[in-house]
Amino acid sequence: MKVYLDNAATTPMDPEVLEAMLPFMKENFGNPSSTHAFGRKTKTAIEKARKSIASHINCQPSELYFTSGGTEADNMALKCAVRDLGVKRIITSPTEHKAVIESAELLKQQFGVVVEYLDLDEVGRPKSDHLALLLKEDISTIVSLMHANNEIGTLIDLKEIGTICKAHGALFHSDTVQTMGHYAFDLQELPIDFITCAAHKFHGPKGVGFLYVRKELKLRSMIQGGGQERQLRGGTENLYGIVGLGKAFDLAYADLDEHIQHVRCLKNRMKAELEAHFSTIAFNGDTSDEGSLYTVLNVCLPETANTKMFLFSLDLKGIAASGGSACSSGASKGSHVLTAIGSSTSCTSVRFSFSRFSTDAEIDYTVAAVKELLSVKENA
Ligand SMILES: Cc1ncc(COP(=O)(O)O)c(C=O)c1O
Repeated sequence: MKVYLDNAATTPMDPEVLEAMLPFMKENFGNPSSTHAFGRKTKTAIEKARKSIASHINCQPSELYFTSGGTEADNMALKCAVRDLGVKRIITSPTEHKAVIESAELLKQQFGVVVEYLDLDEVGRPKSDHLALLLKEDISTIVSLMHANNEIGTLIDLKEIGTICKAHGALFHSDTVQTMGHYAFDLQELPIDFITCAAHKFHGPKGVGFLYVRKELKLRSMIQGGGQERQLRGGTENLYGIVGLGKAFDLAYADLDEHIQHVRCLKNRMKAELEAHFSTIAFNGDTSDEGSLYTVLNVCLPETANTKMFLFSLDLKGIAASGGSACSSGASKGSHVLTAIGSSTSCTSVRFSFSRFSTDAEIDYTVAAVKELLSVKENA
C-alpha cells in the first residue's frame, strides 16, 4: 500500500484542476500581454481566476498579485515593506518559515532593519502580550506571523494579532500558505495588510500562488523588465498555473466544511489510536480542534533503537511522512521550529499531514505500521 501523509509539504493535484489547465497548455497558448485574440483569451482567463479568488476571500481582484508561490510572496511583502513603505523594524517569531526569517535577516544585514523575535508559549504560539509590549516603542514596524505553523500546526488568531497591530499603527503580514484553501477568509473583517498563498498546498499546481496587498499600500516592482501584474511583477505570467490556482480555489471552497470535517476526523482518530497504544507518546504544538491546523499532526515518538531511522522505515512500508518542513531524507534532521519550542531531544518528531484525499484505511495502515515499528524496538 502507498500512503501519502506529507500534504503540508505538497498535495496531489486534483484531476479537475489538471483538466482546467490542459487547454491552456494546448490550444490557448497566447501571451496574455498580446493584444490579438490569442492574447486576449489568455488575459481573460487570468483575470477570471483573479476575480474568482478575490470573491472567495472577500477582497478586490486588484489587491491580488500572482507570484511563483509562497516563498516569493513572503519575500515580496517584507522586502517591499522595507523599501517602499518606510518600515524600520520587523517583529516576527522564531518558528516562521525560512522565507520570512531569511528575508528579515537579510533586510537587517542590508538595511539595518531591526528584527525582533516574539517569545512563544508551550505550544509554539507567539505571545500577544509580548507583541503589544514591543509595539509600544514608536518605530515604523511590520509584524510577520504565520497563520498556521507548517511543522507543528499551531494556529494564531489573525483577528487578535491584527487588532493589536492596527492599534499601534503597525503593518501586519501573515504567511497563510498552510491555511489558504483550508479555512474561510474574509479580508473585509480581518485587519491585515499582506497574506500569501501557494496553490500546491491545496491540490493546485506547484510554482504558483499570490500575494494579497491591501489596496492603500503602494508597492514598486521587485522584478524589472515587464509591466505584468499592474507593474508589480515583471515577466510573462504562469498562465496555466494561474488557471489551476483558480480552479483549486473553487474546488477547495465549494465543499470546505465537508473537507474540514473529514480531515479533522482522520487526524483525531490517528491521535486517539496512538495515545491509546503508547502511554508515553506526546505531540508537538497545539493539537486542539480550535488551536491547530486540522491537516497536521506532529508526533513525538519515544526514543528507541527504531526511531532513529523511523521515517526511512515508514518509507519502506510505502508511507510518506516528514521530520520537518519538506525534509527529504529518510532520517530526521534538526528543525528550527522544534528547537524554538524546546521539543524534547529525547524523542523523534514525525509530522503526519493529511488532505481531503486521505482515507480511513490509510490511517489504519499507518497506525499499524507505527505500532509494529515501535514494538520491534521495545523488544530489541
Ligand atoms: C508556511 C509556509 N510558507 C511558505 C512556504 C513556501 O511556499 P512555496 O513552496 O510555494 O514557495 C511553505 C511551503 O513549504 C510553507 O509551508
